[in-house]
Amino acid sequence: MRRAINKGILVTGGAGFIGSHLCRKLLEQGHDVLCVDNLFTGSKDNIRDLLAHPNFEFMRHDVTFPLYVEVDEIYNLACPASPVHYQFDPVQTTKTSVHGAINMLGLAKRVKAKILQASTSEVYGDPEIHPQPESYWGRVNPVGTRACYDEGKRCAETLFFDYYRQFDLPIRVVRIFNTYGPNMHPNDGRVVSNFVVQALRDEEITVYGDGSQTRSFQYIDDLVNGLLLMMADDQEFVGPVNLGNPNEFTILELAKHVLKLIPESKSRIIFRELPADDPRQRKPDIALARKLLAWNPVTELEEGLRNTITYFRTLRTDSAE
Ligand SMILES: NC(=O)c1ccc[n+]([C@@H]2O[C@H](COP(=O)([O-])OP(=O)(O)OC[C@H]3O[C@@H](n4cnc5c(N)ncnc54)[C@H](O)[C@@H]3O)[C@@H](O)[C@H]2O)c1
Repeated sequence: MRRAINKGILVTGGAGFIGSHLCRKLLEQGHDVLCVDNLFTGSKDNIRDLLAHPNFEFMRHDVTFPLYVEVDEIYNLACPASPVHYQFDPVQTTKTSVHGAINMLGLAKRVKAKILQASTSEVYGDPEIHPQPESYWGRVNPVGTRACYDEGKRCAETLFFDYYRQFDLPIRVVRIFNTYGPNMHPNDGRVVSNFVVQALRDEEITVYGDGSQTRSFQYIDDLVNGLLLMMADDQEFVGPVNLGNPNEFTILELAKHVLKLIPESKSRIIFRELPADDPRQRKPDIALARKLLAWNPVTELEEGLRNTITYFRTLRTDSAE
């Protein structure tokens, strides 16, 4: 029998970027962690140091199929998060969000577990209002190439709230904004990893459009703290809640910042055509998280970028061996 304080916690997508950090943190807190992942975009390298941990278990499983395990809490993170990966097999992306949500909600209902959905700022689409509060319903193109992800995540939110209303299931829904840090996939086309990898390889730094579109970047540790606060036993608030860093930078500023922190880089910035449905601006309104969770992102971009650059340098060294 588990001690009352130790929970059995399932993290789907636990071998991915965010999931691997969350698994590590939950283990530090003394919980039993079951990491379920089909390794589509995740990697055992992200959890290599955890595999021998007595409270950690890895299961290769696709969440589009039902899962029968006994757990107290579920963090549902399984889903490719970058356009290059979620557009690779768009039907599977929608299935992962929608069937994955149905399967994990069914599991939560069976075993009476609390379940958190990793939703996304993409539910706001290309927003007409800026910054976006949770009350904003979004502007998503339902037939565009990002829709498999955006609409999949929107439908997952719907399912979560219907399980909450219909079955009284304890749910939590967080809308994650751009997050970066160690364990990001080096070739996933996300802007921070792209720029860092390009700069380390002395390749041209590709800025889409004129680089004046803005993004806010949240460091992984801040996000993980927010996820844990949302799941905390004394927390009644179900969401949806935005978790992101409201400090806004243009894409061009980010490129210049990365180059400043990799002074030996011979890269130069080049400009390419903006992809379809690329949002002009994306910035979270985090008033709700501040008020109800007493949560605030604290990591400065410079510190987060330094840690991320160190990680990608290690990757290069490893692959050179
Ligand atoms: N990183 C961000 O900036 C960001 C922003 C908003 C939302 N999110 C959400 O957070 C979650 C984690 O994102 P991430 O950045 O860690 O991405 P990631 O691609 O690194 O991790 C996703 C993980 O899910 C796994 N996976 C994918 N499909 C699966 C399936 N059918 N069954 C089992 N496992 C599957 C992948 O192998 C991977 O390990 C995702 O749900 C994503 O939508 C992330």
